Amino acid sequence: AAAVVVASVGALVTWLWTGADVSTVGKEPFVNEMAVPPLAPSRVEKDGTRVFDLRMRAGRTEFRDGRWTPTWGFDGTYLGPTLRAERGEKVRVRIRNGLDEASTVHWHGMHLPARMDGGPHTTIRPGAARSPHWTVAQPAATLWYHPHPHGATERHVQRGLAGMFILDDGRTAALALPKRYGVDDLPVVVQDVRFDGDRFDHGRRIMQNVGFLGDRTMVNGTLSPYREVADELVRLRLLNASTARTYSFGFPDGRDFSLIGTDGGLLERPAPMERLRLSPGERAEIVVRVRPGERAVLRSFPQDDYGDAWQRRFGGGDDSFDVLELRAAERLRPSPALPARLAEQETPDGGGAVRARHFDLRRSGINGRPMAMDRIDETVTRGATETWTVRNADGMPHNFHVHDVQFRVLEVNGAPPPAALRGPKDTVFLASGTTMKLALRFDGPADPTTPYMYHCHLLYHEDEGMMGQFAVVEKGQRAGTPSEHTGHG
Ligand code: C2O
Ligand code: CU
Repeated sequence: AAAVVVASVGALVTWLWTGADVSTVGKEPFVNEMAVPPLAPSRVEKDGTRVFDLRMRAGRTEFRDGRWTPTWGFDGTYLGPTLRAERGEKVRVRIRNGLDEASTVHWHGMHLPARMDGGPHTTIRPGAARSPHWTVAQPAATLWYHPHPHGATERHVQRGLAGMFILDDGRTAALALPKRYGVDDLPVVVQDVRFDGDRFDHGRRIMQNVGFLGDRTMVNGTLSPYREVADELVRLRLLNASTARTYSFGFPDGRDFSLIGTDGGLLERPAPMERLRLSPGERAEIVVRVRPGERAVLRSFPQDDYGDAWQRRFGGGDDSFDVLELRAAERLRPSPALPARLAEQETPDGGGAVRARHFDLRRSGINGRPMAMDRIDETVTRGATETWTVRNADGMPHNFHVHDVQFRVLEVNGAPPPAALRGPKDTVFLASGTTMKLALRFDGPADPTTPYMYHCHLLYHEDEGMMGQFAVVEKGQRAGTPSEHTGHG
């Protein structure tokens, strides 16, 4: 009985403690220069294939002066370099696993064959290597990569395994957009963290039904970051690489910024806004105007529309963070005005859809079933356009990510989508009770025994089984039992 009392007192204390709003607003002087992940070196082979090398490894990282935190990284000790390739280019990435456990590397947002996708069926054993290869067949976009081992994705990402994969194309390159990497075109990988002494503290999740929520944020692995900028317009490639936390980005002085791109590429035209929500896995490209000599703070604000009070409390929706300070030079280089038109939308509009599917999201599973590695849940025909209606049927926030495709949001609760959801998407946030209708096209190639995943990208939920598998098959073909591809390939 005493143990029960102690345990419930512990739970109550944790409940009270985690229930308190977290805020770093005004409390974190911006003292560290924001790191910019280096561009990954590559070589081009005779047949034109661009080849990258990545090594997953363990190490220690000095986030705070003199304090070394055990971490994992690609090449370095935390996060990974930015890969960059062009539409039409063949790429191959040799991944070596220098960790002492199996992992995978998934190319989030990339359209590629299922065997190259890095899902949970394609693990790389410790000491082994794998070289996925594909042809880039999609527009310029800010994608990313991270591990996807079944049941352990949250842990692998939290320790630091994540990086950006930027795609370019000729049309986008010709647009007058800020495009000097690390100068006026900045990668902004946002993660929340919590420290316990020198180590990361990933443990506190009792009563936090969404998984881990940190009490500070980092950008590109830098705590309390600032960055000097010297151009009037600055493009931020925002990536929410946090495992559970959703952010609502904006600037405290109420200035607006232009959303130019979503997960899978540019919008049709820039969309001015003051707030932008990003849930785990989502990306956005925004352009913000700075004034000479000022310090502009990118902040994450409390989210009234996150759900009800209970959801906000346990999902961190009332928390606020000073994320990044932009320090503008006294003299700024003039930037050309943003182009009025950015990119034609290549996502399907739902016309000609041959099939409508429905997905009910609950923490216990999707459509009532938790993930099973040996079960393919949905079979789609190569070349088909479908509509998927996704409903958060739960009392807590979720999001929904589909591998291989960029989709179009047709409706949110029966209404046309807001500007922030009008570009190509692969991940969408759904507060409790929200329904979204998506249009997706599956271009293959067919592979009846290697499925792609769809899942909640709150990684704790994903690991617990909020995930399903779909296979792309030729017309009339049936999906088989998923096969495992380990080690080489
Ligand atoms: Cu970014 Cu299936 O994940
Ligand atoms: Cu979820």
